[in-house]
Amino acid sequence: MYRIPDIVIAVDGYSSTGKSSFAKLVAKEFSLLYLDSGALYRGVTLYAQENGIIDGDNNIDEPALKKALESLDLHFLSTQQGSVMCIGDRVVEKEIRTMAVSSSVSPIAAVPAVRNFVDEKLREAGAKKRVIMDGRDIGTAVFPDAELKIFMTASDEVRAQRRYDELVAKGDNPDINEVLKNLKERDYIDSHREMSPLTQAKDAFVLDNTNMTLKEEVTWMEGLIRGKFGILE
Ligand code: DC
Repeated sequence: MYRIPDIVIAVDGYSSTGKSSFAKLVAKEFSLLYLDSGALYRGVTLYAQENGIIDGDNNIDEPALKKALESLDLHFLSTQQGSVMCIGDRVVEKEIRTMAVSSSVSPIAAVPAVRNFVDEKLREAGAKKRVIMDGRDIGTAVFPDAELKIFMTASDEVRAQRRYDELVAKGDNPDINEVLKNLKERDYIDSHREMSPLTQAKDAFVLDNTNMTLKEEVTWMEGLIRGKFGILE
């Protein structure tokens, strides 16, 4: 067991690079709180879809979205299975991970009012330190002063296969080409939006896990933390 100081760790990168599996394990290893920022964007997207704020062609009624955000109760709930996303009293953890939500989440996440809404929740949680957060702009925009920044990447094919396996494990029947197309579309929108686009922070350490197991990734992280903070127990 390692003891590390009170820090914020930012994990950013492309879709399906395994950020959440990696961040969850690191959180466990170093007793940090794990926060999945993508879940908040997915929660807003589900709400918008269910309330006619975004249509099937991803046309967004921005005034209605802004209004909805004023009273939207989106929060994480701690359960024995880990933290789950809720809209009011309703647990929506499963619903936010579908292809339908994945297909609309990047356009929703490009709306500045949505980013401000999510950023506020993330900064509130991060103020307590000892957190690891994953997303697209954590180290560049949400916590530019994070003590440790990781930027994750992997080949397109490996990412698509991982996402495909995840959906199959959940009982979906996805088309691998659709999954790959969705990943590329999301990467493009996430990297080209005006507000807080996905880019690698100058001081981020790159983790390309195309040919790595999760265990190897955590071992890499242990080495990094040991080198940077030098505190062991
Ligand atoms: O990590 P994820 O695939 O669950 O994220 C879903 C989407 O949310 C992603 O396509 C872009 C958006 N997102 C973002 O814009 N900024 C973040 N910090 C996290 C996610």
